[in-house]
Amino acid sequence: MRAVRIHGYGDAENLVVEDVTEPRAGSGEIRIAVTAASVNRIDAKILRGSMAGGEHLAEPTGLGFDAAGVVDEIGAGVTGVEVGDDVFGLGRQTQAEYAVLTSWTAKPASVDWAVAGAAGTVAETAIRVLDLLGIGTGSTVLVDGASGGVGSVTVQIATARGATVVATASAANQDYLREIGAIPVVYGDGMPKRVRDSGMGALDGVVDVAGKTSIEHLTGLVDDPAQVVSIANFGAEEAGARVTTGGEGDPFAALAEAARMLERSELVIKVQTFDLGRVQEAYEIIETGHTRGKLVLLP
Ligand SMILES: NC(=O)c1ccc[n+]([C@@H]2O[C@H](COP(=O)([O-])OP(=O)(O)OC[C@H]3O[C@@H](n4cnc5c(N)ncnc54)[C@H](OP(=O)(O)O)[C@@H]3O)[C@@H](O)[C@H]2O)c1
Repeated sequence: MRAVRIHGYGDAENLVVEDVTEPRAGSGEIRIAVTAASVNRIDAKILRGSMAGGEHLAEPTGLGFDAAGVVDEIGAGVTGVEVGDDVFGLGRQTQAEYAVLTSWTAKPASVDWAVAGAAGTVAETAIRVLDLLGIGTGSTVLVDGASGGVGSVTVQIATARGATVVATASAANQDYLREIGAIPVVYGDGMPKRVRDSGMGALDGVVDVAGKTSIEHLTGLVDDPAQVVSIANFGAEEAGARVTTGGEGDPFAALAEAARMLERSELVIKVQTFDLGRVQEAYEIIETGHTRGKLVLLP
């Protein structure tokens, strides 16, 4: 099968598409024939070697953490899904013609393949963070860094839960924030004052998506610093905020919630698609840190 791979850390030029052996589904896993796999910021960080703690890459590796596709192998102990089912979810080395998923849900027939391929990581992350913060009907929440993959989905899920959302992005993305249901605010110097002036009142929670705003500026917006949850600032705990990198919550339940929302168009994910041969282009865009919506590879 063809797969996106790297033989060493570096920039987008290090990405190659090459033939490798298909992976096998282990216990509790399924394998899919991939129709769409997204490119996340974490993939760019892995490409750069930022997650490797200074070590060289020991052996060539594939990339990608989410995908949509058709089930073609079922691992031991898996129930509730059959060969031939359309699914999307989370897995490993998904930017390939075949990939193993570790959590999944049925893809509603009305949901486009590329959108389903885009949804896994961002929806699971958004739901995990909103659950940690206890965001629901009547809550007020700030999403800092809201026009990209995780942020735009977090805004929409919070809004669908009945929360009021104030959200930040660059000046160019203010209309987009309004479109997805948030009160828009420009990030950068003076952002906390602009949030206070937005008419939101007291905030119940802050989702630090971008990890770019000083954590003290964010904790200053809530009564309890633990009501700030960061997914990108790994020093945030020093200021009393919480950091999540996964492991909490139930990814199967989160994916099922995302599927229901996608089917009802309560969640709309903008996608830009690339065939595997254009993978370098997709990574160059994700590297900018200013993607609107999601980038999706179509193997
Ligand atoms: N911990 C976890 O479980 C987890 C899971 C998924 C992702 N992540 C991490 O979360 C981060 C965001 O991922 P993503 O996929 O949403 O990235 P993305 O699609 O590139 O979006 C980045 C967002 O950050 C905004 N931004 C850029 N500079 C900013 C600043 N100075 N202040 C506030 N916002 C700013 C961008 O707005 P403009 O485009 O308008 O500039 C955009 O809305 C990445 O670091 C990723 O690795 C963590």
